[in-house]
Amino acid sequence: MRYGHFDDQHREYVITRPDTPLPWINYLGCEAYFGIISNTAGGYSFYRDARLRRLTRYRYNNAPFDFGGRYLYLRDNATGTFWSPSWQPTRTPLDQYQCRHGLGYTTIASNCKKVEAETCYFVPLGENLEIWRCRVTNRRQKPAKLSLFSSIEFCLWDAQDDATNFQRNFSTGQVEIEDAVIYHKTEYRERRNHFAYFACSAKPAGFDTQRDTFLGPYRSWDNPAAVERGKSFNSVAHGWAPIGSHHIKLSLKPGETKEVIFLLGYHENPVDQKFDPPGSQTLNKKTVKPVIAKYLDGKNAEAAFQKLREYWDGLLGIYQVNSPDPHANRMVNIWNAYQCMATFNMSRSASFYESGIGRGLGFRDSNQDLLGFVHMVPARARERILDLSATQFKTGGAFHQYQPLTKRGNNDIGSGFNDDPHWLILGVAAYLKETGDWSILDEPVQFENEPGSEQPLYEHLRRSISYTLERLGPHGLPLIGRADWNDCLNLNCFSDTPGQSFQTTTNKEGKVAESVFIAGLFVLAAKELAAIAAMRNPDEAKHYLAEAAKMEKTIYDHGWDGEWFVRAYDDFGRPVGSKVCDEGKIFIESQGMCIMAGIGLNDGKAKQALESVNKHLATRHGIVLQQPAFSKYHLHLGEISSYPPGYKENAGIFCHNNPWIIIAETMVGNGRRAFDYYTRINPSAREKIGDLHRCEPYVFAQMIAGKDAPTHGEAKNSWLTGTAAWTYYTFTQWILGIRTGYEGLIIDPCIPAKWAGFKVSRLYRGERFDIEVRNPNAVMKGVRRVVVDGVEVPDRLLRPTGKQPHHSVVVEMG
Ligand code: BGC
Ligand code: NOJ
Repeated sequence: MRYGHFDDQHREYVITRPDTPLPWINYLGCEAYFGIISNTAGGYSFYRDARLRRLTRYRYNNAPFDFGGRYLYLRDNATGTFWSPSWQPTRTPLDQYQCRHGLGYTTIASNCKKVEAETCYFVPLGENLEIWRCRVTNRRQKPAKLSLFSSIEFCLWDAQDDATNFQRNFSTGQVEIEDAVIYHKTEYRERRNHFAYFACSAKPAGFDTQRDTFLGPYRSWDNPAAVERGKSFNSVAHGWAPIGSHHIKLSLKPGETKEVIFLLGYHENPVDQKFDPPGSQTLNKKTVKPVIAKYLDGKNAEAAFQKLREYWDGLLGIYQVNSPDPHANRMVNIWNAYQCMATFNMSRSASFYESGIGRGLGFRDSNQDLLGFVHMVPARARERILDLSATQFKTGGAFHQYQPLTKRGNNDIGSGFNDDPHWLILGVAAYLKETGDWSILDEPVQFENEPGSEQPLYEHLRRSISYTLERLGPHGLPLIGRADWNDCLNLNCFSDTPGQSFQTTTNKEGKVAESVFIAGLFVLAAKELAAIAAMRNPDEAKHYLAEAAKMEKTIYDHGWDGEWFVRAYDDFGRPVGSKVCDEGKIFIESQGMCIMAGIGLNDGKAKQALESVNKHLATRHGIVLQQPAFSKYHLHLGEISSYPPGYKENAGIFCHNNPWIIIAETMVGNGRRAFDYYTRINPSAREKIGDLHRCEPYVFAQMIAGKDAPTHGEAKNSWLTGTAAWTYYTFTQWILGIRTGYEGLIIDPCIPAKWAGFKVSRLYRGERFDIEVRNPNAVMKGVRRVVVDGVEVPDRLLRPTGKQPHHSVVVEMG
């Protein structure tokens, strides 16, 4: 079954039936105001922080799912029948339905009873509001008298409290209504200086702001009393559940279209100017009214929409590829880059799977997200690096997460994830390679957000390395701490208490359990830091290389199992991910990370490990995390064995680390396999098995059920995953091999031999390189020559000249 198709020309995914296997969502906003929106207009909005500044409500895990949203109702006043033009919530059969998810906007169009409605939802750049531009057309032969009702349900700001603290919440709700604008001002009377508003460009016949009045007793959003009777109640919320709804009467001649604009927005007033007149309890609307007036004007809304489109043209134009594979092209050119923006903005906080109240920005996650984002808006990447490093401890360890609103480390989650510090080095390295902006290393950055503790960013990187060196275990491998990249491999946890958090409960001091994965990551990071140090202090570079070499030896001595790399040592000093284990004999992470760090490239061990991955872990839907899956709960391994076999970290296809193996394959020169592995998890290539895959075909998912699950091939947890950045980085920099280096672009493709070539256009440090790669001898890897603007470049490095805005590059493989 097909649920839609790609429209590459318009950079849209077009969904042609509303009952997709799961809600297929999109994001609105890419700066401070955000929303998620499904193909049936479900979803919610928030300002900066999905937990602390939630504007509207959404019902996670509802039946039916995807409930709560930006809902409109149309009512035929002649007959009293009504429906939802976005299908939900009434789910009235529509004669036509189409949802176009685009870059930063979603348009839902339908036709029901010969009334067409098309609503485009988007957030203008630089504003804290969303526009719903609704156009209704009468396709009948005779005039139509219609009612259009809008509706949203306000969240009382803190989404966690909103969903749990009813003894208080049922008594705090407050609104104001002025000039047909509904202002939501719960808690504004006390410590908040922000409010939300819901405005509409037409003069409404009525409004509602009290949910239970609008819906009527014991009714739901699928048949609100106000809509059914065709008339609002003009209810003014006080306590209970404040909502916003307008009633607009539309009389349309045959063929006539009318446009109504709705605005949902967030606004802040200075603390000493909250009320107008001062001393009253009335909202000061002086600065918000001009914003509302501006965007209720259709011309300004249209101009804002065009600006948004141009913004994305610019961002995507930075890297465009034309390869023989259409699936890869559309992911690189459109969707994967777009997904990288979402992960950069949201980290893992707000999606259909992440409730927005669970997590802030992850230290390791956000650093990895930079790999796929840094080329788009380097200035924001820079700011993120500085924010992240300010949550580092003086020891070099780091708060595992921080809240985006406060930018402070999250005490509840704490620290002790021993891989964390190294991702900062990789994030900074990616930034330096993209921009050449070495000044970032001298930026003074606090430790633990403590004023007065500032040290140059470079010092933070140093401490990332010493953190590991000061925490080595019995084999000389890094101690694992609470967990490494695999949050579910909890070797010090020993949790036997239901409901206990695996990641934050530590029952053992952790002086024994070691991670071969961190060892590999350490080698990679230490080599990277050595390359950075080489530009400043060659002796220090030698020191990092020596430490990397020492760790490499330790990995050979204690981390090689004969046919693959061991994963870890447990609290008893026994290997995890070894042939001696009954379950979990081989893990993906240590294979990918050790080879990416260059280990085993010269003695065949890398190739051998990759053969083992192919033999034991690869499936047609992607590479599973480990084998054999854990059939029961193992106290000494933790959360990984809490999942039924085939799901998540317990032998699921954890897409995030498939690219590590793909990079490793390119490093050993196997372009056919690298591309094949990439295609197995590429959502566009999986569109044809949509009923099995079930998640959105335009974004990567975190997980695809592994071969031990009855649902092998079913994707879950789409959108917010490190898979976004890693697949983007891997395809553009390792398969296409147009790779950023400290001094320029390195040209090193590794492709299927049958590819005759490809073209890439890359804007790099202000200069555009139009690169044509030719593969006349049908090789997978190897570059014979690189010619830049007619001149052969022996070191095959594309260096920006600072003089010439455009370069033509011809690369001959062979
Ligand atoms: C998930 C992991 C995730 C961790 C931390 C676990 O339940 O399986 O993928 O990293 O939670 O949020
Ligand atoms: C998802 C988490 O966000 C990430 O930090 C972790 O590395 C993976 N799960 C694997 O457990």
